[in-house]
Amino acid sequence: DKGNHRHFMQKEIYEQPVVVAQTLGSYLRPLEEQVALPDMDFDLKSIERVAIVACGTASYVGMIGKYWIERFARVPVEVDVASEFRYRDPVLLSNTLGVVVSQSGETADTLAALRHMRANAVTTAGIINVPTSSMAREVDLLLPTHAGPEIGVASTKAFTCQLAVMAALAVNLARAKGRLTRDEEREIVRHLVEAPAALNAAIEHDEEIQAMAHTIAAARDVLYLGRGPDYPLALEGALKLKEISYIHAEGYASGEMKHGPIALIDDSVPLIVLAPSGPLFDKTVSNMQEAMARGAQVVLISDAEGLAAAGDGPIATIEMPKVHPLIAPLVYAVPVQLLAYHVAVAKGTDVDQPRNLAKSVTVE
Ligand code: M6R
Repeated sequence: DKGNHRHFMQKEIYEQPVVVAQTLGSYLRPLEEQVALPDMDFDLKSIERVAIVACGTASYVGMIGKYWIERFARVPVEVDVASEFRYRDPVLLSNTLGVVVSQSGETADTLAALRHMRANAVTTAGIINVPTSSMAREVDLLLPTHAGPEIGVASTKAFTCQLAVMAALAVNLARAKGRLTRDEEREIVRHLVEAPAALNAAIEHDEEIQAMAHTIAAARDVLYLGRGPDYPLALEGALKLKEISYIHAEGYASGEMKHGPIALIDDSVPLIVLAPSGPLFDKTVSNMQEAMARGAQVVLISDAEGLAAAGDGPIATIEMPKVHPLIAPLVYAVPVQLLAYHVAVAKGTDVDQPRNLAKSVTVE
Protein backbone atom coordinates (compact mmCIF):
# COMPACT_ATOMS: atom_id res chain seq x y z
CA ASP A 1 0.00 0.00 0.00
CA LYS A 2 1.46 3.33 -1.08
CA GLY A 3 -0.61 5.32 1.42
CA ASN A 4 -0.89 8.87 0.14
CA HIS A 5 2.26 8.57 -1.93
CA ARG A 6 2.39 8.38 -5.67
CA HIS A 7 5.09 5.72 -5.78
CA PHE A 8 6.59 3.16 -3.41
CA MET A 9 9.94 4.85 -3.85
CA GLN A 10 8.58 8.13 -2.53
CA LYS A 11 6.89 6.36 0.38
CA GLU A 12 10.12 4.53 1.21
CA ILE A 13 12.16 7.75 1.12
CA TYR A 14 9.70 9.29 3.55
CA GLU A 15 9.80 6.27 5.85
CA GLN A 16 13.50 6.67 6.52
CA PRO A 17 13.38 8.67 9.76
CA VAL A 18 11.13 5.99 11.28
CA VAL A 19 12.89 2.89 9.97
CA VAL A 20 16.37 4.24 10.71
CA ALA A 21 15.18 4.99 14.26
CA GLN A 22 13.80 1.44 14.49
CA THR A 23 17.05 -0.02 13.22
CA LEU A 24 19.21 2.09 15.51
CA GLY A 25 16.87 1.22 18.36
CA SER A 26 17.94 -2.39 18.15
CA TYR A 27 21.65 -1.50 18.35
CA LEU A 28 21.78 1.44 20.75
CA ARG A 29 21.39 1.39 24.49
CA PRO A 30 20.55 5.07 24.95
CA LEU A 31 20.64 5.04 28.75
CA GLU A 32 24.11 3.55 28.89
CA GLU A 33 24.99 5.53 25.73
CA GLN A 34 26.43 2.36 24.29
CA VAL A 35 26.28 0.53 21.00
CA ALA A 36 25.57 -3.21 21.19
CA LEU A 37 25.49 -6.06 18.68
CA PRO A 38 23.52 -9.30 19.00
CA ASP A 39 25.32 -12.15 20.79
CA MET A 40 27.99 -13.84 18.72
CA ASP A 41 30.05 -16.96 19.21
CA PHE A 42 33.35 -15.43 18.17
CA ASP A 43 35.48 -12.69 19.64
CA LEU A 44 35.49 -9.39 17.75
CA LYS A 45 38.77 -8.61 19.44
CA SER A 46 40.50 -11.29 17.38
CA ILE A 47 39.44 -9.70 14.08
CA GLU A 48 42.44 -8.31 12.20
CA ARG A 49 40.91 -7.49 8.86
CA VAL A 50 37.50 -7.04 7.31
CA ALA A 51 36.34 -8.01 3.82
CA ILE A 52 33.04 -6.44 2.75
CA VAL A 53 31.19 -7.86 -0.24
CA ALA A 54 27.94 -6.62 -1.80
CA CYS A 55 26.35 -5.45 -5.05
CA GLY A 56 25.00 -2.12 -6.27
CA THR A 57 23.74 0.25 -3.63
CA ALA A 58 24.70 -2.17 -0.86
CA SER A 59 28.30 -2.08 -2.11
CA TYR A 60 28.39 1.67 -1.47
CA VAL A 61 27.45 0.95 2.13
CA GLY A 62 30.54 -1.26 2.15
CA MET A 63 32.71 1.56 0.81
CA ILE A 64 31.41 3.96 3.46
CA GLY A 65 31.95 1.21 6.04
CA LYS A 66 35.61 1.06 5.03
CA TYR A 67 36.07 4.73 5.96
CA TRP A 68 34.36 4.21 9.30
CA ILE A 69 35.94 0.90 10.33
CA GLU A 70 39.45 1.99 9.39
CA ARG A 71 39.01 5.35 11.10
CA PHE A 72 37.50 4.07 14.36
CA ALA A 73 38.82 0.53 14.73
CA ARG A 74 42.10 0.90 12.78
CA VAL A 75 41.41 -2.49 11.18
CA PRO A 76 42.16 -2.71 7.43
CA VAL A 77 39.11 -3.20 5.24
CA GLU A 78 38.77 -4.33 1.66
CA VAL A 79 35.55 -3.87 -0.27
CA ASP A 80 34.56 -5.78 -3.39
CA VAL A 81 31.54 -6.03 -5.59
CA ALA A 82 30.44 -9.64 -5.18
CA SER A 83 30.69 -10.55 -8.88
CA GLU A 84 34.40 -9.68 -8.81
CA PHE A 85 35.15 -11.12 -5.39
CA ARG A 86 33.87 -14.58 -6.19
CA TYR A 87 36.04 -15.00 -9.29
CA ARG A 88 39.23 -13.19 -8.37
CA ASP A 89 40.49 -15.89 -6.00
CA PRO A 90 40.72 -13.47 -3.05
CA VAL A 91 43.39 -13.96 -0.40
CA LEU A 92 41.47 -14.85 2.74
CA LEU A 93 43.79 -14.68 5.73
CA SER A 94 42.82 -15.97 9.14
CA ASN A 95 41.10 -13.57 11.54
CA THR A 96 39.17 -11.96 8.71
CA LEU A 97 35.57 -10.93 9.30
CA GLY A 98 33.65 -11.31 6.04
CA VAL A 99 30.71 -8.92 5.87
CA VAL A 100 27.94 -9.20 3.29
CA VAL A 101 25.44 -6.37 2.85
CA SER A 102 22.13 -7.13 1.14
CA GLN A 103 18.56 -5.91 1.26
CA SER A 104 17.06 -9.09 -0.17
CA GLY A 105 19.56 -11.57 1.24
CA GLU A 106 19.17 -13.45 -2.06
CA THR A 107 21.44 -11.65 -4.55
CA ALA A 108 23.15 -14.53 -6.36
CA ASP A 109 26.68 -13.11 -6.47
CA THR A 110 26.64 -11.95 -2.84
CA LEU A 111 25.29 -15.31 -1.69
CA ALA A 112 28.00 -17.12 -3.66
CA ALA A 113 30.64 -14.82 -2.12
CA LEU A 114 29.27 -15.59 1.35
CA ARG A 115 29.46 -19.32 0.67
CA HIS A 116 32.99 -18.94 -0.67
CA MET A 117 34.07 -17.17 2.52
CA ARG A 118 32.44 -19.77 4.74
CA ALA A 119 34.02 -22.58 2.77
CA ASN A 120 37.38 -20.91 3.47
CA ALA A 121 36.79 -20.76 7.23
CA VAL A 122 36.12 -17.03 7.29
CA THR A 123 33.77 -15.85 10.04
CA THR A 124 30.89 -13.97 8.46
CA ALA A 125 28.42 -11.28 9.39
CA GLY A 126 25.50 -10.09 7.28
CA ILE A 127 23.74 -6.74 7.24
CA ILE A 128 20.48 -8.00 5.79
CA ASN A 129 16.91 -6.74 5.55
CA VAL A 130 14.95 -9.93 4.87
CA PRO A 131 15.32 -12.06 8.02
CA THR A 132 14.13 -15.28 6.34
CA SER A 133 16.51 -14.98 3.39
CA SER A 134 19.24 -17.44 2.42
CA MET A 135 22.01 -15.08 3.54
CA ALA A 136 20.31 -14.37 6.86
CA ARG A 137 20.22 -18.12 7.54
CA GLU A 138 23.80 -18.77 6.50
CA VAL A 139 25.84 -15.98 8.15
CA ASP A 140 27.52 -16.56 11.51
CA LEU A 141 26.29 -13.23 12.81
CA LEU A 142 23.06 -11.69 11.52
CA LEU A 143 22.92 -7.92 11.84
CA PRO A 144 19.37 -7.15 10.76
CA THR A 145 18.18 -3.88 9.28
CA HIS A 146 14.61 -3.08 10.20
CA ALA A 147 13.63 -1.21 7.06
CA GLY A 148 10.49 -3.28 6.48
CA PRO A 149 9.65 -4.55 2.98
CA GLU A 150 11.25 -2.44 0.26
CA ILE A 151 9.12 -2.56 -2.90
CA GLY A 152 10.66 0.11 -5.16
CA VAL A 153 13.40 -1.37 -7.33
CA ALA A 154 15.59 1.63 -6.45
CA SER A 155 16.90 0.95 -2.98
CA THR A 156 16.42 3.86 -0.56
CA LYS A 157 15.41 3.03 2.99
CA ALA A 158 17.42 -0.21 2.97
CA PHE A 159 20.54 1.89 2.19
CA THR A 160 20.21 4.27 5.15
CA CYS A 161 19.32 1.41 7.51
CA GLN A 162 22.36 -0.55 6.27
CA LEU A 163 24.51 2.50 7.02
CA ALA A 164 23.09 2.70 10.55
CA VAL A 165 24.03 -0.94 11.17
CA MET A 166 27.45 -0.48 9.55
CA ALA A 167 28.11 2.38 11.99
CA ALA A 168 27.10 0.12 14.90
CA LEU A 169 29.50 -2.57 13.64
CA ALA A 170 32.34 -0.04 13.28
CA VAL A 171 31.84 1.22 16.83
CA ASN A 172 31.72 -2.29 18.30
CA LEU A 173 34.82 -3.33 16.48
CA ALA A 174 36.58 -0.16 17.63
CA ARG A 175 35.64 -0.86 21.24
CA ALA A 176 36.69 -4.51 21.00
CA LYS A 177 40.04 -3.42 19.58
CA GLY A 178 40.56 -0.99 22.46
CA ARG A 179 40.41 2.01 20.14
CA LEU A 180 37.46 3.81 21.65
CA THR A 181 37.12 5.46 25.05
CA ARG A 182 33.79 5.49 26.89
CA ASP A 183 33.50 9.20 26.20
CA GLU A 184 34.13 8.77 22.50
CA GLU A 185 31.50 6.06 22.32
CA ARG A 186 29.01 8.25 24.21
CA GLU A 187 29.59 11.03 21.75
CA ILE A 188 29.06 8.74 18.76
CA VAL A 189 25.84 7.41 20.27
CA ARG A 190 24.58 10.96 20.69
CA HIS A 191 25.23 11.68 17.03
CA LEU A 192 23.55 8.47 15.89
CA VAL A 193 20.51 9.27 18.02
CA GLU A 194 20.23 12.58 16.14
CA ALA A 195 20.10 10.87 12.73
CA PRO A 196 16.30 10.37 12.45
CA ALA A 197 15.59 14.06 13.17
CA ALA A 198 18.26 15.08 10.68
CA LEU A 199 16.68 12.78 8.07
CA ASN A 200 13.36 14.53 8.70
CA ALA A 201 15.00 17.91 8.24
CA ALA A 202 16.47 16.71 4.94
CA ILE A 203 13.08 15.47 3.70
CA GLU A 204 11.64 18.93 4.32
CA HIS A 205 13.51 20.12 1.22
CA ASP A 206 11.43 17.89 -1.00
CA GLU A 207 9.54 20.68 -2.80
CA GLU A 208 12.69 22.66 -3.48
CA ILE A 209 14.30 19.56 -5.00
CA GLN A 210 11.20 18.90 -7.05
CA ALA A 211 11.42 22.45 -8.40
CA MET A 212 14.92 21.87 -9.78
CA ALA A 213 14.12 18.45 -11.27
CA HIS A 214 13.04 19.83 -14.66
CA THR A 215 16.45 21.38 -15.30
CA ILE A 216 18.21 18.10 -14.51
CA ALA A 217 15.66 16.09 -16.50
CA ALA A 218 16.74 17.99 -19.63
CA ALA A 219 20.40 16.98 -19.23
CA ARG A 220 22.07 14.20 -21.19
CA ASP A 221 24.79 13.56 -18.61
CA VAL A 222 24.98 14.37 -14.91
CA LEU A 223 28.06 14.11 -12.70
CA TYR A 224 28.19 13.70 -8.91
CA LEU A 225 31.18 14.61 -6.76
CA GLY A 226 32.04 13.78 -3.18
CA ARG A 227 35.10 13.23 -1.03
CA GLY A 228 35.74 10.78 1.82
CA PRO A 229 32.54 8.97 2.87
CA ASP A 230 30.61 11.25 0.53
CA TYR A 231 32.42 9.77 -2.47
CA PRO A 232 30.48 6.47 -2.33
CA LEU A 233 27.39 8.63 -1.93
CA ALA A 234 28.25 10.34 -5.22
CA LEU A 235 28.33 6.85 -6.78
CA GLU A 236 24.96 6.11 -5.18
CA GLY A 237 23.49 9.38 -6.51
CA ALA A 238 24.62 8.52 -10.02
CA LEU A 239 23.32 4.94 -9.80
CA LYS A 240 19.95 6.11 -8.50
CA LEU A 241 19.59 8.67 -11.28
CA LYS A 242 20.55 6.32 -14.08
CA GLU A 243 18.42 3.41 -12.95
CA ILE A 244 15.14 5.30 -12.71
CA SER A 245 15.51 8.30 -15.05
CA TYR A 246 17.75 6.63 -17.69
CA ILE A 247 19.98 9.72 -17.74
CA HIS A 248 23.67 8.91 -18.00
CA ALA A 249 25.28 9.76 -14.68
CA GLU A 250 28.65 9.13 -13.05
CA GLY A 251 29.98 9.66 -9.57
CA TYR A 252 33.59 10.64 -8.93
CA ALA A 253 35.87 11.28 -6.01
CA SER A 254 36.22 15.07 -6.09
CA GLY A 255 40.00 14.89 -6.35
CA GLU A 256 39.80 12.68 -9.45
CA MET A 257 38.08 15.35 -11.57
CA LYS A 258 41.25 16.78 -12.98
CA HIS A 259 42.56 13.32 -13.84
CA GLY A 260 40.06 12.94 -16.65
CA PRO A 261 36.38 13.55 -16.00
CA ILE A 262 36.74 17.34 -16.10
CA ALA A 263 37.09 16.94 -19.87
CA LEU A 264 33.36 16.13 -19.93
CA ILE A 265 32.38 19.45 -18.39
CA ASP A 266 30.61 22.14 -20.34
CA ASP A 267 27.58 24.28 -19.61
CA SER A 268 25.17 21.46 -20.45
CA VAL A 269 26.44 19.20 -17.66
CA PRO A 270 24.88 19.49 -14.21
CA LEU A 271 27.36 18.70 -11.45
CA ILE A 272 25.89 17.63 -8.12
CA VAL A 273 28.39 18.34 -5.35
CA LEU A 274 28.00 16.65 -1.97
CA ALA A 275 30.04 18.66 0.51
CA PRO A 276 29.12 18.89 4.18
CA SER A 277 31.19 21.53 6.01
CA GLY A 278 34.14 19.99 7.82
CA PRO A 279 37.77 19.07 7.24
CA LEU A 280 37.24 17.96 3.61
CA PHE A 281 35.04 20.88 2.59
CA ASP A 282 37.61 23.35 1.20
CA LYS A 283 39.21 20.74 -1.00
CA THR A 284 35.91 19.72 -2.55
CA VAL A 285 34.87 23.32 -3.07
CA SER A 286 38.08 24.05 -4.91
CA ASN A 287 37.36 21.07 -7.22
CA MET A 288 33.87 22.47 -7.69
CA GLN A 289 35.28 25.88 -8.62
CA GLU A 290 37.59 24.34 -11.21
CA ALA A 291 34.55 22.73 -12.79
CA MET A 292 32.50 25.95 -12.59
CA ALA A 293 35.29 27.81 -14.38
CA ARG A 294 34.63 25.40 -17.28
CA GLY A 295 30.91 26.11 -17.28
CA ALA A 296 29.60 23.31 -15.02
CA GLN A 297 26.08 23.93 -13.73
CA VAL A 298 26.62 23.16 -10.06
CA VAL A 299 24.00 22.07 -7.57
CA LEU A 300 25.71 22.27 -4.19
CA ILE A 301 24.37 20.19 -1.31
CA SER A 302 25.83 21.36 1.99
CA ASP A 303 24.87 22.86 5.35
CA ALA A 304 24.36 26.58 6.06
CA GLU A 305 28.00 27.06 6.93
CA GLY A 306 29.20 25.34 3.77
CA LEU A 307 26.75 27.16 1.50
CA ALA A 308 27.82 30.52 2.93
CA ALA A 309 31.51 29.68 2.48
CA ALA A 310 31.03 28.46 -1.11
CA GLY A 311 29.65 31.79 -2.38
CA ASP A 312 27.12 32.27 -5.16
CA GLY A 313 28.60 30.31 -8.07
CA PRO A 314 26.22 27.32 -7.92
CA ILE A 315 23.00 27.50 -9.99
CA ALA A 316 21.14 25.89 -7.09
CA THR A 317 21.78 24.81 -3.52
CA ILE A 318 20.11 22.38 -1.14
CA GLU A 319 20.65 23.11 2.53
CA MET A 320 21.13 20.13 4.81
CA PRO A 321 21.11 20.34 8.60
CA LYS A 322 24.56 20.63 10.16
CA VAL A 323 25.43 17.09 11.27
CA HIS A 324 28.44 15.18 12.52
CA PRO A 325 30.51 13.73 9.63
CA LEU A 326 29.61 10.23 10.84
CA ILE A 327 25.92 10.61 10.02
CA ALA A 328 26.37 12.88 6.99
CA PRO A 329 26.16 9.98 4.48
CA LEU A 330 22.75 8.98 5.89
CA VAL A 331 21.40 12.51 5.78
CA TYR A 332 22.87 13.44 2.38
CA ALA A 333 21.36 10.26 0.91
CA VAL A 334 17.95 11.93 1.12
CA PRO A 335 18.47 14.81 -1.36
CA VAL A 336 20.25 12.40 -3.70
CA GLN A 337 17.27 10.02 -3.63
CA LEU A 338 14.70 12.80 -3.94
CA LEU A 339 16.52 14.34 -6.87
CA ALA A 340 16.57 11.03 -8.78
CA TYR A 341 12.93 10.48 -7.89
CA HIS A 342 11.67 13.85 -9.10
CA VAL A 343 13.78 13.76 -12.26
CA ALA A 344 12.28 10.35 -13.10
CA VAL A 345 8.75 11.61 -12.40
CA ALA A 346 9.46 14.67 -14.58
CA LYS A 347 10.60 12.35 -17.37
CA GLY A 348 7.56 10.12 -16.92
CA THR A 349 9.47 6.87 -16.44
CA ASP A 350 8.20 3.93 -14.42
CA VAL A 351 9.78 4.85 -11.10
CA ASP A 352 9.01 1.68 -9.15
CA GLN A 353 9.63 -0.76 -12.01
CA PRO A 354 12.41 0.70 -14.15
CA ARG A 355 13.08 -1.01 -17.46
CA ASN A 356 15.47 -3.96 -17.53
CA LEU A 357 15.82 -4.14 -13.73
CA ALA A 358 14.63 -6.64 -11.13
CA LYS A 359 14.28 -5.98 -7.41
CA SER A 360 16.27 -9.02 -6.53
CA VAL A 361 19.01 -10.28 -8.85
CA THR A 362 18.99 -14.02 -8.18
CA VAL A 363 20.95 -14.98 -11.30
CA GLU A 364 24.57 -14.00 -11.84
O1 M6R B 1 19.17 -7.12 -2.38
P1 M6R B 1 20.55 -6.54 -2.46
O2 M6R B 1 20.78 -5.45 -1.49
O3 M6R B 1 21.62 -7.60 -2.39
O4 M6R B 1 20.63 -5.90 -3.91
C1 M6R B 1 21.83 -5.35 -4.39
C2 M6R B 1 21.61 -4.54 -5.64
O5 M6R B 1 21.03 -5.34 -6.63
C3 M6R B 1 20.72 -3.31 -5.39
O6 M6R B 1 21.22 -2.49 -4.39
C4 M6R B 1 20.57 -2.49 -6.69
O7 M6R B 1 21.80 -1.88 -7.02
C5 M6R B 1 19.45 -1.45 -6.52
N1 M6R B 1 18.56 -1.51 -7.65
C6 M6R B 1 19.95 -0.04 -6.36
O8 M6R B 1 18.93 0.88 -6.25
